[in-house]
Amino acid sequence: ARHFALIPAAGVGARLGGAIPKQYMPLAGKPMLQYALDTFAGNAAIAHTFIVVSAADGYIGDFLATQPQLADKVTVVRHGGETRQESVRNGLLAIRAHIADNDWVLVHDAARPGLNDALLDRLIAALHDDDVGGLLALPIVDTLKRSNASRVLETVPRNGLWAAQTPQMFRYALLQRALDAAQLQGRVGDITDDASAVEMLGLQPKLVEGSPRNFKVTLAHDVALAELFLQGQE
Ligand code: C5P
Repeated sequence: ARHFALIPAAGVGARLGGAIPKQYMPLAGKPMLQYALDTFAGNAAIAHTFIVVSAADGYIGDFLATQPQLADKVTVVRHGGETRQESVRNGLLAIRAHIADNDWVLVHDAARPGLNDALLDRLIAALHDDDVGGLLALPIVDTLKRSNASRVLETVPRNGLWAAQTPQMFRYALLQRALDAAQLQGRVGDITDDASAVEMLGLQPKLVEGSPRNFKVTLAHDVALAELFLQGQE
């Protein structure tokens, strides 16, 4: 089976509050999106990378024009959805002709520029003979409180709790079936990652240890932290 990367990059980055969509925001001198694209394009295990942007995206063409080394490795799907899961579903549909049911799809947030070769190799190696697929994730180190506004209702034992990262890696047909089922059941609004759709089928994705550097750039103060991780890696 081959491995394909699918990058949903059709969000507007409202929580970051920048002037341009966050996937194009410069981080340590390069647009955020370039980090993940370079990692996938440079990894021999990845056959091709598909990136899903919104139909109205006015940046992707200019960006890719500056990246000739990506020309035969990356294809743009101009069909973003209202939600991340819709963007992923649209992407899966658009690539159907290029991919076999049995091939692996690695879905990765454009907003996680800290993915590197070592993490990608670890995920692929851990899942190569897996029946279900899985994801990068990190054990929770903080003590967790469930709240009612500002008061603690309870402390949630962190034992056994992980924070999900991406890539999340599943066989094409399974992932599509999982997202279709979630859609049909009207549960798309409940899910914020791909693994949870697979879990709704009663399957148990495998957890593969990720890294703090692979965090999702979401809020304004994340930018400085991301630059700290990214500087010196290149
Ligand atoms: O908004 P958030 O940071 O959770 O988005 C995670 C990823 O999903 C980002 O790469 C973002 O561009 C993408 N996304 C998308 N379509 C949407 C919303 C988010 O492709 N409608």
